[in-house]
This record gives sequence, structure tokens and C-alpha cells, in this order.
Amino acid sequence: MPHPLFTPYLLKGLPVKNRIVFPPVVCFGYALEDGIVTAKNVDHYRQTAAGGAGIIITEATAVLSDGRLAPFQLGIWSDAHIPGMSTIASLVKKENAISLLQIHHAGLLTNEHVSTTAKAPSADEKNPRSAELTVAEIIEIREAFINAAERAKKAGFQGVELHGAHGYLLNQFASSLFNHRTDEYGGNMEKNLKLATDIIHGIRQRCGEDFIIGYRLGANSPALEDGTIIAKHLEKAGVDLLHVSHGGSLLNLPRPPKGFDYNWIVYSGTVIKTTVSIPVIVVNEIKTQERAAWLIENNHADFTALGRPQLADPNWVNHVLNNEKINLCHQCKPKCRWFEAGALCPARKK
Ligand SMILES: Cc1cc2nc3c(=O)[nH]c(=O)nc-3n(C[C@H](O)[C@H](O)[C@H](O)COP(=O)(O)O)c2cc1C
Repeated sequence: MPHPLFTPYLLKGLPVKNRIVFPPVVCFGYALEDGIVTAKNVDHYRQTAAGGAGIIITEATAVLSDGRLAPFQLGIWSDAHIPGMSTIASLVKKENAISLLQIHHAGLLTNEHVSTTAKAPSADEKNPRSAELTVAEIIEIREAFINAAERAKKAGFQGVELHGAHGYLLNQFASSLFNHRTDEYGGNMEKNLKLATDIIHGIRQRCGEDFIIGYRLGANSPALEDGTIIAKHLEKAGVDLLHVSHGGSLLNLPRPPKGFDYNWIVYSGTVIKTTVSIPVIVVNEIKTQERAAWLIENNHADFTALGRPQLADPNWVNHVLNNEKINLCHQCKPKCRWFEAGALCPARKK
């Protein structure tokens, strides 16, 4: 019997060589303030793509310089970013993997060194830098996302993933925890999702039918019941691939049933998978090939994303394929050392 993780999949007619995704992971300290791809980024993605994952999602890349989560984040807010991005897209293509670029705006979580204000659907009383976006500013952001997708396409990416999770801007619009507007961009789910819907329609129009539109969704936005409604809405709006993660808050966490040996984020992905027809990626602490394979084998997901395992061992997928020893992630606490610098990762130290 073929290994469940290596059963082929057709995504919008494109063959995907396996069911393993390299999820978006910002490489802190690799990019410079201009957001242009550096030699360090190129080396990282060369190694990552050669590692064997079927889909490589390039890290959160800013659609506007004043909406960055960190001053040294990759950017796609100008045409000057295209050549560097095209180097990454071609490395991924060379390894016969699907290339997606995650496009991102931090909203309330905009870094203080990139903007004095943190523009969001609604101001947050706990954040004195926060300010409510005007409708004209929302339209600018919509166009920035659509232009970013068009640049990603020009660079050779087969699609984009809209970052709608982890409490960033699109997640803030979608969730009534953050969105208190009463105009056309807030007040009910339809309105909360207007910005995302307009972006999706705009990308489809500008980049064509074949261009893959993925969406990283915060499942608890604010509760899983909302996450499933959001997922169905996104499917209807034209999203091709859902990637289910968390919604940037620790409220309303669903409880996986007894015997389901994965955390609530993976569980949420499996629940959402039952409510949509488009493919779903599940993620978070899947950790091992056995656990990833079980999810695919039992049709709980179409793809499994493994982040830290592939950071610890960029050849993780090839090692699984060839039945070789894997260099295991050390599960650093309080958090992964890649948040500071990849060079600090204990699993990567010789
Ligand atoms: C250093 C680091 C950077 C990350 N950067 C991003 C990012 O750019 N975009 C995103 O959506 N998630 C990001 N994540 C979350 C990962 O994509 C993934 O969801 C998370 O690591 C859980 O999966 P894992 O347990 O397989 O590592 C990041 C995670 C880490 C450890």
C-alpha cells in the first residue's frame, strides 16, 4: 500500500507530489529593512524546497511597508521586490513543488518601528497606538493585497495564501472580538468578511482562474462555529485551499473529543474539513510522520503542514520517503529559537 503521505493529489488540476506542506515561517534576521529577498532567504528556500514538501508557502510577506509585523520582514509592496521573489519561486519550481506566497498585513499588531500607528478595523482601548481605518484606507489595503498577488504571479508563484489567522489584519476584520464597526466592513459575518471577499474577487479577476488562492484561517474567530461559517463563506468567494490555524486569541477553544490525540488547532481543521469541499491543510504540533499519515489516511485533512519539524530537519520529507533517520525538533521553550534566529536552532547546530 502506498504511504498515505505520498499519495498524489490534484490541486486545481496541478499534481502535488505529496501531502506535506512547508507552512509559512518568518526567518527573523534574514531580510533587511527594504523587504527585498537576501542571499540568506534564497539559501533557506533552496534548502527547504530541496527537502521534498509538496507545497512550499513562503513566509508572511508584507503588502504595505507600514503594515509590517517586524522591520526586517520580507515585502511585496513594490515591483522592486519581484526579482528576489522570482528567485524563490524558481527554486521551488525546480523541486517540482507548488509555490505559494503568504501575503500579510499586521493591522493592530503592526510593529512600532515601522509605523507610529497600528491601523485596524477598530481601535483597541488597550493599545494607545491603535486607530480605526477609514473606508478610503481599507480600499488602499484591498488594492495592496491585490497588487501583491499580481506581483507574486509575475514572480512565478503559482498562488498566494492570504494571512487571515493569528490575530493579524484579515483575522481582525473577520472576528467580532476585534471588529466593532457598524459600516459596510463590520456588524455581521458578511460585512466582517467584506474586505477578504473583495480581495479574493480582485485577485481572481487580476490573476486569472488558474492562480491558486489560499487562505490561512483563524479557526476560533472568535469560536469554531464562526470559523466554520468563515470557511464556507471563503469557499463561496472563490478560495481554492484553506489552511486552518488559530485566531490569535485563547478564548473559546474547542475541545477535541476523547481519543483524538491532536491539539484543538488540528481538531478545528478536521471539523472545518467536514464542512467544505475545497482542500484543507491542518497544522500545529503534528510532529511525526505517523501522526501526519493518520490524518490523511482517515480523510481528516487533505494536507498536513509541519513547520518546526522541517525547520529542525530541512530534509524531513526526503528522510520519511527514504525511511531515514530524522533530525528531531527540540521543542524549545518558551518558544522556538527561530523567532530570534535560525542559527540558534539546537537541532541545526553541528
Ligand atoms: C519562527 C516561526 C515563524 C512563523 N512565521 C509564520 C508566518 O510567517 N506566517 C504564519 O502564518 N505562521 C507563522 N508561523 C506559524 C507556523 O506556520 C506554524 O503554524 C506553527 O509553527 C505550528 O506548526 P508546527 O507545530 O508544525 O511548527 C511561524 C512559526 C514559527 C516557529
